[in-house]
Amino acid sequence: MTTLTALLGTSLPLIQAPMAGVQGAALAAAVCNAGGLGSLPGAMLTPEALERELSALSAGTPHPWNVNFFCHTPPVPDAAHEARWRAALAPFFAEAGLDISAVPAGAGRVPFSHAVADVIEPFRPPVVSFHFGLPAPDLLARVKSWGSVVLSSATTVDEARWLEAHGADAVIAQGLEAGGHRGTFLSPHAPPLRGSLPPEGRDPAWGGPAPDLLTSQMGTFALLPQIVSAVRVPVIAAGGIADAAGVATAMALGAAGVQVGTAYLCSAEATTSALHRAALQSEAARHTALTNVFTGRPARGIVNRAMRELGPMSLAAPAFPLATAAMAPLRAHFEAQGSGDFSPLWAGQNVSGCRSLPAAEITHQLARGFECSL
Ligand SMILES: Cc1cc2nc3c(=O)[nH]c(=O)nc-3n(C[C@H](O)[C@H](O)[C@H](O)COP(=O)(O)O)c2cc1C
Repeated sequence: MTTLTALLGTSLPLIQAPMAGVQGAALAAAVCNAGGLGSLPGAMLTPEALERELSALSAGTPHPWNVNFFCHTPPVPDAAHEARWRAALAPFFAEAGLDISAVPAGAGRVPFSHAVADVIEPFRPPVVSFHFGLPAPDLLARVKSWGSVVLSSATTVDEARWLEAHGADAVIAQGLEAGGHRGTFLSPHAPPLRGSLPPEGRDPAWGGPAPDLLTSQMGTFALLPQIVSAVRVPVIAAGGIADAAGVATAMALGAAGVQVGTAYLCSAEATTSALHRAALQSEAARHTALTNVFTGRPARGIVNRAMRELGPMSLAAPAFPLATAAMAPLRAHFEAQGSGDFSPLWAGQNVSGCRSLPAAEITHQLARGFECSL
């Protein structure tokens, strides 16, 4: 028993990272049944799909599970910025023989809301995790009133302090190696924490490369011990952890547990596409980068043509999640031809743990890292 297993109610202090777009209830249930905390990503699900997946997850395991949401501030659409983005994409649409003017501007991923809370409330989620900060205080209080344990990702020491001060029960220290979106939600130029930050310190506009935001980011094993010394809540290490040795190292640096994503991407239960799996198991996976061209926010994926020719960071990309809509037809066109050139091939820097194995087996292999540290 560790602080984290006591908090989460699991046998292992190991969380399978929620990974929107590449998994559903099957992966989460398999990890729960193997002793870890399985996670269901809710950010890209319709209310109907969310309800279906939650039913499958709660029926699929008697153990605690996690459901995850984004809590970004939706941007105000900006016609001039959208036009700049479409101009940048126009040559690729022409090459594909597609009509860019026919693409509707879409809202994309929506943040956690009372409407989403209505869907999950009957399931009384044992754990709810958030990316991009925390929801507004009334919404967070509603989640906590169900008895749910609340987690969120921090990519800097200031973010970890902010999350602790605003009610997170544990903080996920997300290092720069991590696959998928950076959980970043505070500007490094925000004033120092004084109990609570002014609204302008939150959720900076992610319409451009914002180099200062990216240069404030640290690797897992630099970030983790600094967050451990800065907060009292348990700290969960995430980013680049792919085997038992990585788990043991994170625990030696003061982590209360680990959150692992990339190592589950090729598991039998993940819904990762064949294209994405092939890329993860190829030489191409040795080169990942942070890019904003797929959604508008920095996220780590395997470098492909879209990232090389549009970015990897582009000033033309509109704010998260508005970049997604105009990329969608290109993605569909190239995927239909068997190419991942315009697909977000999210992956962390350490793909050495990506194996086509049942998730339970991956969990057991990672869990060996706790034997020397527990
Ligand atoms: C394909 C993919 C999708 C992701 N989607 C989400 C998500 O929906 N919500 C979230 O909180 N984190 C998401 N993440 C980030 C993970 O929570 C975690 O920080 C990361 O996987 C840890 O690093 P690792 O991939 O090196 O193990 C995603 C990561 C990947 C690889």
